Amino acid sequence: MTPSTPAAASAPAAVPLASSPTIPKAEIHMHLEGALESELLVTLARRNGVQLPTYDPEVLDARYRFGELQDFLDVYFDNLAVMRTAEDFHDLAALYLRRAREEGVVRAESFFNPMVHVRAGVPLAAVMEGYGAAFADARRDGLSCDLILDFTRDLGAEAADQMLTDIAPFRDMIIGVGLDSTEVGYPPVLFRDVFARAEADGLHRTCHAGEEGDPEYVRQALDDLRVERIDHGLRAVEDPELLKRIAGEQIAVNVCPLSNVALRAVDRMEQHPVFAMLEAGIPATISSDDPAYFGGQIGANFAALEAIGTPRDVLIGCIENSFEAAFIDGAERERHLAALRAAAVS
Ligand code: ADE
Ligand code: ZN
Repeated sequence: MTPSTPAAASAPAAVPLASSPTIPKAEIHMHLEGALESELLVTLARRNGVQLPTYDPEVLDARYRFGELQDFLDVYFDNLAVMRTAEDFHDLAALYLRRAREEGVVRAESFFNPMVHVRAGVPLAAVMEGYGAAFADARRDGLSCDLILDFTRDLGAEAADQMLTDIAPFRDMIIGVGLDSTEVGYPPVLFRDVFARAEADGLHRTCHAGEEGDPEYVRQALDDLRVERIDHGLRAVEDPELLKRIAGEQIAVNVCPLSNVALRAVDRMEQHPVFAMLEAGIPATISSDDPAYFGGQIGANFAALEAIGTPRDVLIGCIENSFEAAFIDGAERERHLAALRAAAVS
């Protein structure tokens, strides 16, 4: 241990950066299937006898260079062929939840894509049993966490409607619904009736919109799906009236900086639309999206914004926004916000 000198003893204690694991965070935009790190991918492929192009995790990681969203989705869905049993789903969720806690996450709201697994012949019960067990374990260890069912938009509204029916026996295991996957060509309005059913059943609603789709996709998510949050929302900044409306209604926009650069929705971090959103008064939040594919967990996303000089108070404000936008009750929200305030000044 280094002995403390009088100078060191009198130096002011440095306040932790927003990226520090000592700062409590909520992660409200991430996909469990996007946490499938190459090592676990290889383990599951071997466990289930599934062929991979290579069994070298480093070579697999090196393939993760994408020109646009669809390039990523092709690899992401191919990799999901290794997910077969409840144990596989448990192991994937347990890995993510462990990593999230190591990063300071105290509230996790995680998307999962059951339609993809069911189409691959996996029983929905296996998906729910595995994810459910990992989430129950994490809760017992003190993490606040919940699952959000994401509909896979390119499988269509009828399939989404069927999934909402099929999930009924597991209704208590989800807190909301979302919409993800290939955006352009699958506008939110197609899913109006499914989202209305979900709302009538007391489920929260969020939607990927404006990641590649134009501002009309964001407008439809608000008007036709009655969402409480928007995921990505990048292209809303092209429409000043829409930006003003989102700010006026204080709709949280859940931004994932490393994902947006990796999928080339944004050329350079310095040009990220999150700055225009915050300027307009929108309560933007920061999450990792698919941490196994885009270069890091939630802490790395904050660090990427810190690396370009984003002021600390702006990023602490984004963390506050994520607790405000989380689907939790008022008492829990106040508890997290108080812990954030205490950690941010020490
Ligand atoms: N599914 C997983 N990650 C996604 C993203 N960034 N956009 C749309 N669908 C997704
Ligand atoms: Zn996403």
